[in-house]
Amino acid sequence: MPAKNLSLSGITKLPWDEFYSLSLNAKADFFYKDSLMFDCLYSSQFNRKLLEYLYKLSDKIRFIAQTKSGLDWLQKLLSHKRAVLYFSQPSTRTYLSFNNACQVLGIQASDIRSSGASSEAKGESQEDTVETIHSYTDLLIIRHSNENIAEKAAWMFNRSDNPIPVINAGSGPLEHPTQALLDVYTLHRAFKGRIDGKTIAMIGDLKRGRTIRSLTHMLSNYKNIKFIYISPSELTLPDDLRQYLVKHKIKFEESNNLERSLKKADILYITRIQDEYDKKNESKKIDYSKFGLKKEHLKHLKKNSIILHPLPRRGELSSEIDHDSRAWYWKQEINGLWIRAALIAFIFKQSKSILNYKS
Ligand code: MLT
Repeated sequence: MPAKNLSLSGITKLPWDEFYSLSLNAKADFFYKDSLMFDCLYSSQFNRKLLEYLYKLSDKIRFIAQTKSGLDWLQKLLSHKRAVLYFSQPSTRTYLSFNNACQVLGIQASDIRSSGASSEAKGESQEDTVETIHSYTDLLIIRHSNENIAEKAAWMFNRSDNPIPVINAGSGPLEHPTQALLDVYTLHRAFKGRIDGKTIAMIGDLKRGRTIRSLTHMLSNYKNIKFIYISPSELTLPDDLRQYLVKHKIKFEESNNLERSLKKADILYITRIQDEYDKKNESKKIDYSKFGLKKEHLKHLKKNSIILHPLPRRGELSSEIDHDSRAWYWKQEINGLWIRAALIAFIFKQSKSILNYKS
């Protein structure tokens, strides 16, 4: 089992500004309790051992849930817990998969589906909103356009007398760790555990796509991964991510030519343009048409390659591809439910009883 030595107690000593200015790795170490992950905020919190443990746990949960008796058993595990899903940005898959993951484990979930529906609309601060949620729940699952509020909520709760876990379900354009988790879980299933050595082409809005950053970090747990980043020149990799790759000696190239990279990729990870982060409608001026996958591209792809998309899609992924055996995005979204259930079960220390379950 992956272990970390720092406990939550260290966090109580640091004021927010000081905490916030720490490096990602230093911060991540604070979100452990009894040597195990307590808050899930950044994809860099996952190491390979933890990933493989969660894949096993997720496979077992989906197996147990196939029968009524199995599902009844799962639903008793955490029936004493409540969760709040606070989603200030739109969501279909992440919201539904977390909500259903809670149901599978017997957790009662309530939700706020936009900041307009919370007292934030009346001028309440985001800190007061999350503090209020803290009073009503045992788990906060949060998606917010403010890239820091999930982290700040975890920092606030961990200083309180009643720390409760926080799961980041998407923090502005910065991170989406559980999307990366379901992406690598899908690759684990598609390649039967053999992810090492694969070449992944990440295509689209690399600048503002939070799934790009989170998946890059998560895949760097694997050996000899090579990244090909393909984007319009206006939407290239953010500098910090480029520096991360250089620092960790991870092989990567950048290109604006999708067609040339198709043959080289084992995995194609297509993404939509993230125009909700536009400042002045700048996306309208970008020609995104060359950064999509069409039926005529299929003949250039490797036979055993895998096509992923975090979804929702627009024009960048043709629905004519949906029935090709390499299209894994619909499986990818259902995998999200099971791996998120595994993550929640793990955080609430239910893994052992699940893995020991005999039908
Ligand atoms: C996200 O929440 O980041 C999505 O799953 C991907 C997207 O919105 O394009």
